[in-house]
This record gives sequence, C-alpha cells and structure tokens, in this order.
Amino acid sequence: MSPYTSGADADKAAYDRATAALDAPLAVVDLRAFDANAADLVRRSKGKPIRVASKSVRCRALLERVLARDGFAGIMSFTLAESLWLARSGFRDVLLAYPSADRVGFAELTADPGLAAAVTVMVDDPVQLDLIDAARPSGGPGEEVRVCLELDTSFQLLGGKVRVGARRSPLRTPAQLAALARSVVRRPGFRLVGLMAYEGHVAGVGDEVAGKPVFSRTIRVMQAAARKELAQRRWAAVRAVREVAPRLEFVNGGGTGSVQHTAAEAAVTEIAAGSGLYVPRLFDNFRSFSGRPAALFAQPVVRRPGPGVVTVLGGGYPASGVAGPDRLPVPHLPAGLRYDPQEGPGEVQTPLLGPAADRLRIGDKVWFRHAKAGELCERFAELHLIDGDRVVDTVPTYRGEGHAFL
Ligand SMILES: Cc1ncc(COP(=O)(O)O)c(C=O)c1O
Repeated sequence: MSPYTSGADADKAAYDRATAALDAPLAVVDLRAFDANAADLVRRSKGKPIRVASKSVRCRALLERVLARDGFAGIMSFTLAESLWLARSGFRDVLLAYPSADRVGFAELTADPGLAAAVTVMVDDPVQLDLIDAARPSGGPGEEVRVCLELDTSFQLLGGKVRVGARRSPLRTPAQLAALARSVVRRPGFRLVGLMAYEGHVAGVGDEVAGKPVFSRTIRVMQAAARKELAQRRWAAVRAVREVAPRLEFVNGGGTGSVQHTAAEAAVTEIAAGSGLYVPRLFDNFRSFSGRPAALFAQPVVRRPGPGVVTVLGGGYPASGVAGPDRLPVPHLPAGLRYDPQEGPGEVQTPLLGPAADRLRIGDKVWFRHAKAGELCERFAELHLIDGDRVVDTVPTYRGEGHAFL
C-alpha cells in the first residue's frame, strides 16, 4: 500500500474530477505537488543552482516550467540526439551526462556553432575524443567541442574487492583525472569546461525503507562512509583538474536524494536533480526529505472477476534496474489495493485485490505511481497537467513528440 494515505481520498476525488471527461489510460502531473517539490529541491541546495536531469522529466513543457524558477539552471541530458534536439528548440547549457558513440550526432554538433556552444559532452576515455574527431565535417576542423570529465564516485574497501556504486567512469584518482584533463586541453578542437561526479549510491538509494530497520541502518552507515570518502577525493580531484584548466566552468554532483549533502561540499558548484520533481515510489524511502507524488497514471477498471478483486487494463510498466518488486508501479488511489502475487501488473490487464476493490465500478479509474520518474513518459504520449481539480493544460511527452531517445 502507498504510504501516502493521508488526504488520499481528497486527492483521488480531485484527480477523478479533473479527468472526469477523459478516458484512462492516461497520465497526469499534479502541478501543485510538482512546484512544491521544485521549491523543496531549491531549499535543500542552499543557493547552488540545480541542473535539471531531463531523463527524469521527459517533457519539454515541464522542463521549461522548472527552468523558469529561481534556483534551476541548465539541463542534464541523456543522449546526444536528445541534447541536439533540446538545443535546437532553444534550451541553453545542456550537459550530456553519459558518453556517446553517436557519430551522426557528433557530425551535427561539430558542424554547427550554435549546437557546439549549447551542448557539453561527457568524456572519461581518450577514445571518445577520437570518435568525436572522426565524425568532424570533412574540409575543416569543425567547431570546438565542450567537454566535461567524469569522476568515479564508487565507494571501495579492501583495495577494490568490496565496491558500492555504479560502474561509470574509469577515472578514480585526481592524478587520472588530471592526466585526461591535460590531454583534452592540449588537443585542438576541445575545451574542458566541467567535471561531474554522480554518487548514485547516496543520491538514489533510500536510507529509510519501511519495515527494514536493519537494512536501513546498514545503508546509512555505508552512505555516511561513502560521502566522507568522496568529499575528500572530489575536493582533491577538482583541485587537480583546476590546475590544468583554471577556467573550469562547473563541478556537478549529486542527485535528488543527496542534494543537501552534495551542496555542502565547497568543491561542488551545482547539483543535478530530476526525480525529486515527480517523486516516484523509489524516492519514498529517504530520511532527509519527503516529496509529494506529482506524476501519476490511471488505468480503467474493465472487469470484476469476483468479490475483493477488480481488473484494470494494462498497468505493467516496470522500471529499469535490477528486476524486483521495487521496480513495479504501485497502486496508489484508492488506498488499499494490491497486486495478485500470481500475476503482478500485466501487459494487457492487472487484477487488483483488496477491500477497496469492492467499491470500484467498471469504468472507474485506479491511480498508480511509477517506480521511477521519467520512464513513465515512455508509456504515454501526453501529460494532463492538474491544478486542484482541473486539467489546466495537456502537453506532449518526448514520446508524444515522436522521440524515443532511450
Ligand atoms: C549523472 C547523473 N546525475 C544525477 C542524477 C540524478 O537524477 P535524479 O535526481 O533524477 O535521480 C543521475 C541519475 O541517474 C545521473 O545519472
């Protein structure tokens, strides 16, 4: 059951009223919750700008909405094609947070001064620079490419035998970063402008999981140790890179679950965050903040197999990551519905069990929360934006604009 049961009846009534004329399946964003979540991210970042992680939003209208607020600046994008599309549609300061092997995209980037000025690409290996050079337009060097280096943030013990954190950059020591920084600054056609270090094992792992006190305590101990180790290494890495590139423009770090910790590090100039706007269910389990679920989807009740059970259409939208129950959407409203353990949420239909089922009629909506943030938008072409009990706008998702970047 969702933990958000207080005010749940009022929320359900408001969402049902707002969408009374619309048939499910549909997805909504509750703008009051979205704006409150945005304000909370800014409060936690203590004056450091927040770069919005577009993968966790996947809707241009909502990226524009959040970037219009004080405290947000720039986009953290997830593919080169997406970055170029955003830059072409007017977004400035787009940091592509993942290395790319998109040769067509690099050919476009290096041929267009406007794109090259707007987009910064991620590098952690000289081979990535070779790939970019090979894509440059024939007959000239093409535009200077803005480069950001990535630091490995994983927490390691016993000489690396125990390792916590995503396998991302191979660059772990300040010396390794400084060496690659030197090859970037010496190489014509590139400008080193940033450093990024994303501590996903702190920012994306909840430290207060309901019903799991021992696990939660272990996570807290691990995260405290990881934060301490990283703060020292990040500081030294930034110093080493700044010696090579004194005009470094930014040092990006953090994510929704670590905003206040990462912002407290003097070496970090900006924070990345996106999931904290929609607040999907994987972000329920943090001690340091509690956002409001802002993105929901509704599935229609289509049949009633028997007492205590209703079946809704579709609903099987699992999130990426290690497969497990925590990757599933959660039935949110009405409170008190659960999956049939033999079926789970299905490709075309989902039975839901519980006393609340008996109060639902065919045609009613059941409201769900996705496990992750932006992936919801790959299932829906549009988002209905709700203010109170009214739909005030309907805007396309990336998918609705014809783009499936990932
Ligand atoms: C590089 C990077 N920074 C920050 C984030 C945090 O994003 P969010 O706040 O949406 O969890 C992520 C998420 O995966 C990321 O890959």
